[in-house]
Amino acid sequence: MRLLVDAELEALIESEVENGAGQVAELCGTVLLAGGKRLRPLLILLAHEIAGGSSDDDIIPLALAFELIHTATLVHDDINDEASQRRGVDTIHTRVGIPKAVIAGDWLFVQGFGLGGIYEEHIVRIMAQCCANIAVSEFDQLDHVLNLATSPEDYLGIVRGKTAGPFSAGCHAAGLVAGLSDEQASALQRFGMELGIAFQLVDDLLDLRGDERMGKPRGADVIEGKMTLPLIHALTLSHGEERLRLAHIIENFHDGLFDELMSLLNYSQSLQYADILVRTHLERALNELDSFPDSDAKSLMLHITDYVMNRHL
Ligand code: IPE
Ligand code: IPE
Ligand code: MG
Ligand code: MG
Ligand code: MG
Repeated sequence: MRLLVDAELEALIESEVENGAGQVAELCGTVLLAGGKRLRPLLILLAHEIAGGSSDDDIIPLALAFELIHTATLVHDDINDEASQRRGVDTIHTRVGIPKAVIAGDWLFVQGFGLGGIYEEHIVRIMAQCCANIAVSEFDQLDHVLNLATSPEDYLGIVRGKTAGPFSAGCHAAGLVAGLSDEQASALQRFGMELGIAFQLVDDLLDLRGDERMGKPRGADVIEGKMTLPLIHALTLSHGEERLRLAHIIENFHDGLFDELMSLLNYSQSLQYADILVRTHLERALNELDSFPDSDAKSLMLHITDYVMNRHL
């Protein structure tokens, strides 16, 4: 299924280059085709299948739309996060500068909406609302940079908008395209939301664990001032001298402080706390699939939830 998605994306870039889109299409192609995990399009194809959708042709444009929009957010996210690498290649803004990278991200967004726009109005609305929510939550995240009073609820609200929303909207829309009732499609919507929350929790844990698969230096989120759940948890549990030190480390973070940060997070068992929440959200995601009959597609969806769980272990 991933090869199918890759081939479709490749064909899209090729035809845009042929149609005269030139450098913008080529640049977008370098990141788009550099090999993302394709989780969103795969989940959309699978959700459509477990919902009883008959032909892939009905859902491929939507799956591609979500991958293009996702890649657009990555191009813009990397500008804001000053990231030099994405999917193992140099980010667009490091190659051609921020102005062109902003426009490249817009190009990807528009290509995504072009594909998603062929669906009925209620599907297009779901996509548009999800994109609007990404913007709202990214603003919210910026407003919480280095805000040590950030609560778990603030964090979860941001994560729902920026990451889980697109998983949720994709699965929801796929169910509706396959002809599910609103109620049945809501189960897929909740599945995507829970899976997406777990996914971002794991992404944040991988950043702290300095996993080389992330292709960026460990602690990049802390350098950014991003208040992820382990930090929020540790700040809540620690007090006195220890909390002062933790606050100082977060506010002045550099790689030399990494080990000390880890030992403070270990002391409050904050990584374990995030781990438990990953499990909780994945269990909730799985429960939402109970009402769908067993099938190969359902097994693959279960496989993806396992993959999210095991990614950081
Ligand atoms: C990265 O998403 C952005 C987050 C929401 C954490 P992915 O980890 O799905 O990125 P790709 O698509 O596989 O590159
Ligand atoms: C990404 O969040 C969420 C988006 C909507 C792009 P991150 O900033 O954590 O993504 P990575 O870690 O750079 O992939
Ligand atoms: Mg970011
Ligand atoms: Mg980022
Ligand atoms: Mg991240």
